[in-house]
Amino acid sequence: MVGADREREALARAAALVAGARRGVAFTGAGVSAESGIQTFRGKDGLWRQHDPYRTSSIEAFLQDPSYYWRISAERWPAYAASRPNPGHLALAALEEEGHLAAVVTQNTDGLHRQAGTKRLVELHGNGRRVRCLDCGAAEPREEVQRRLERELPPRCRACGGRHLKPAVVFFGESLPAAAMSEAFQLARECDLMLVVGSSLQVYPAAHVPGTAVERGVPLVVVNDEPTPMDVAAEVVVRGRSGELLPELLRLVRSSRPERH
Ligand code: APR
Ligand code: ZN
Repeated sequence: MVGADREREALARAAALVAGARRGVAFTGAGVSAESGIQTFRGKDGLWRQHDPYRTSSIEAFLQDPSYYWRISAERWPAYAASRPNPGHLALAALEEEGHLAAVVTQNTDGLHRQAGTKRLVELHGNGRRVRCLDCGAAEPREEVQRRLERELPPRCRACGGRHLKPAVVFFGESLPAAAMSEAFQLARECDLMLVVGSSLQVYPAAHVPGTAVERGVPLVVVNDEPTPMDVAAEVVVRGRSGELLPELLRLVRSSRPERH
């Protein structure tokens, strides 16, 4: 079977599994936002190929030198600020709306699933649109902090003058938000389908979420541009770009539904 036929066949099998799901969970990573113009971390042209992840976003390195993180944030901010949900985000919101997905559990901090209309969203790694001062707890919107980076590196807290303004995202070495974790694992324990989109599945404990569903024998569908460590456990692996594949998956799910009378 040549490549295109194989992908079409995989997509059809994935659509049949999604069409049959009533409590599916989509577990997403940076790959689902790649087509919104936000750079991924791993895989080809990933951020961690250009910058050391530890120096960039571990809490230990940040506390010693917050400028390192903010210098890279300044580089990435224009793409981040300009990003909008892509057809992949919108397709996942539609699959929730039409009763196949119970929720989206995401590692992404860009807020694009929420903007796309996903109602039940679990942000395991927080949300980068808000910034908090580690010294006094004051919070402010990200864009205001980004605006003063040119003349103020690291940015100083408006309330206490502190140097540790940090986006409300989970850095390496920090624990994940407990409420998000318990909701994500509860969803994984109750789901009837696990759909992984755009994640290299290399970061824990987040990757335990799809792992929990797989351990229960729930069908796993992987939509990803490159191989992942969980491909071997998947019922179906669809190789390619989520911004094209997810709308196609949605179309096949809709066409497989008996006509509503
Ligand atoms: N469509 C589908 N998959 C894609 C696309 C695309 N358009 N573009 C890239 N990918 C795939 C890549 O091949 C890669 O396997 O998405 C995956 C992205 O993997 P990562 O960059 O590692 O992102 P993620 O899995 O979300 O990383 C998890 O690591 O650095 C931390 O906190 C950060 O939340 C992040 C976590
Ligand atoms: Zn402060």
